[in-house]
Amino acid sequence: MLTFTSISLLVLAFVKGSSASDAKRGLAFADTSDPSDISLAENTQVSWVYDWGVTAPSYLADSGITYIPMQWGASGVETFASAVTAQGAKTILGFNEPDMASQSNIEPATAASLWMEYIQPLKAQGVTLGGPAVTNGPTGTPWLAQFLGNCTSCDIDFMPLHWYGEGVGNFYNYIWSFHGEFSAYPLWVTEFASTSPDTPDVESFLNASIAYLDSLDWIKGYAWFAFYVSRIVKLFPNVN
Ligand SMILES: *[C@@H]1O[C@H](CO)[C@@H](O)[C@H](O)[C@H]1NC(C)=O
Ligand SMILES: *[C@@H]1O[C@H](CO)[C@@H](O)[C@H](O)[C@H]1NC(C)=O
Repeated sequence: MLTFTSISLLVLAFVKGSSASDAKRGLAFADTSDPSDISLAENTQVSWVYDWGVTAPSYLADSGITYIPMQWGASGVETFASAVTAQGAKTILGFNEPDMASQSNIEPATAASLWMEYIQPLKAQGVTLGGPAVTNGPTGTPWLAQFLGNCTSCDIDFMPLHWYGEGVGNFYNYIWSFHGEFSAYPLWVTEFASTSPDTPDVESFLNASIAYLDSLDWIKGYAWFAFYVSRIVKLFPNVN
């Protein structure tokens, strides 16, 4: 729901954990952040990164962390598959917040036809497809239901989702409800954050929610919004 220019709480915890959770943790690496920040995520639990773009800037491509291309909106969708193939990407993310006028803003029926023409063919090449990522606003899950209603031949491997709000209880309720409605899909929470203005609140939210996401077997990925080291170091002095 929030854009990466409008949020002020930009943190991510690095807590070493079991290998079972290793593949889940990713970075939503906004392009306004310091490229050198990425080096702090090397050799941690972080295994994937995206920046809402199609091709990685060199500091992401060289990080050793898997870059996941995203087809953000309708624009440029015709050339997405060739860009994905050229970089040898094994996983992609679909449209970003298509239910929001201020984000990629695509009608479900249009998104479904673009998907079938330009994105679905990647699957036959062995690429894992992450679907459109809707907001947790009132237009979010209804948009996704209409998209899927139009895209009966879509073969999507996992469904991303976004959440902003306050309180872990609200967050957990939302992901469980989403899981109930779209139970055919493993989920990746590709943007989430506590919007509380209170730093200790945000820290405890992050602490609790990451452990919780690690514990759920139907959550296959998550990325806090967003990764900026100045905030991380302040909240988590022992970044590892
Ligand atoms: C297809 O999407 C349109 C909006 O683009 C929606 O009105 C319609 O209900 C959807 N069809 C199904 C079967 O969900
Ligand atoms: C976060 O979790 C760690 C490890 O479980 C704990 O040591 C720390 O006190 C927690 N911080 C907060 C703010 O909950």
